[in-house]
Amino acid sequence: MVKSKVSLSQVSESSVTVSVPEHIQPLDTLLPEEPLLMMGAGPVPIPPRVAAANSIVINHLGDTMAQIIDQVKTMSGYVFQSSSARILGVAGPGSAAMEMAVVNLVEANDTVLSVCNGFFSNRLAVMAERVGATVVKHQVVDRKAANVSDIEPLIARHRPKVLTIVQGETSNTVCNHGLKEICAMARRYDCMVIVDAVCTLSTMPLCMQAWGIDAVITGGQKGLSSIPGVSLVAFSEKAWDFIQSRQSKMSHWCLDANLADKFWYGKSYHYTAPVSGVLAIHEALRLICSETLEVRFARHTRSSKSLQAGIQAMNLGLHVDTAHRLNSVVGIDLPEGIDQGELLRKMSSVYRVEISGSFGANIVRVGQMGEQSRAHNIFRTLHALGASIQSLGAEVDVPAGVSALERSLEAFDRAKVKTAQPERVSIPA
Ligand SMILES: Cc1ncc(COP(=O)(O)O)c(C=O)c1O
Repeated sequence: MVKSKVSLSQVSESSVTVSVPEHIQPLDTLLPEEPLLMMGAGPVPIPPRVAAANSIVINHLGDTMAQIIDQVKTMSGYVFQSSSARILGVAGPGSAAMEMAVVNLVEANDTVLSVCNGFFSNRLAVMAERVGATVVKHQVVDRKAANVSDIEPLIARHRPKVLTIVQGETSNTVCNHGLKEICAMARRYDCMVIVDAVCTLSTMPLCMQAWGIDAVITGGQKGLSSIPGVSLVAFSEKAWDFIQSRQSKMSHWCLDANLADKFWYGKSYHYTAPVSGVLAIHEALRLICSETLEVRFARHTRSSKSLQAGIQAMNLGLHVDTAHRLNSVVGIDLPEGIDQGELLRKMSSVYRVEISGSFGANIVRVGQMGEQSRAHNIFRTLHALGASIQSLGAEVDVPAGVSALERSLEAFDRAKVKTAQPERVSIPA
């Protein structure tokens, strides 16, 4: 290694002065005049009330903020379906909430069983490894939900302290439909369960308390239809008892749940809360409470299933079989010769609709979370998808797809489908 002969004291100020940057364009010249319709795997469009709340800044420690925080916790209890959970907000992405759950519940040398279906469930395993835990990975077969009967022998053999699992694996559009049974099984072995519900919360049933889940994580920008950057984590009473009594020192300061509790339950300072984002999530939660979970789940089912019917009627294949399929994000196999990137560019430039590609397989993904699950949005998306694929040279039947979508929506309306709801924590007054 060559050592610099110039000492720091010899560097003149003028030689390191950074000049004013040129060619910086104002935002309104960068942003499209008509925003793209965001129909990908998140972030999703936000309702006007959420956007309005996101433009406000208030004192993060004043009485108004304290009242808002109280309401966020009360409404979250309904959305997470737990009347006893300790609910904390996190200034950060969904991954920060994942990390908050992991680093507070997992200590070095603990055994963790990670059910891995794809990109995000693997991330939970990586986080546990970084804490120094011994992580047993259960790699689920691609495009399949975790098989409940495969997991019990693993819990019995390894006796993990914590099991990590995702409800909906956004990356490959698989849903772990057996989540309730897996949680019940873990409980029998006194194993705590961390569930990533970043894309699924409020789009499909999840009953934290009734299913015995110890930590549930969600982000703002998906099911809740709020902004990215403020996330929520809910801890069960058992998890909270552990966190309060744990002896080993937390290496994370921002993510220390005991410190975050000072703000979320003690009205005092931890770090400056992202007030605008908290106000936005307040409004998102309030809209969910006024819609009610039952109606919201039914809206998501109707919209996603009808979109799927339209896709299939167009002669496109769905990436995952019905029994394993996630409704919150729909994965679509692309016909031979159709390039993912080219298709996305065509859809956004011609039709102003944005959907997502994927991390590996030649699929595209259409989100069905929150505001995305509206009839006018899925008609526009399905047409844009079909017409773009056609113009890139593959055979698809666009009119058949649109007609199947319409018929399916009507069939749902006629049947007034009611999604079966288990034990409910009621809407906060
Ligand atoms: C299921 C799931 N978990 C976790 C995350 C991570 O969230 P973020 O990107 O906000 O960190 C995502 C984001 O796509 C997700 O879909």
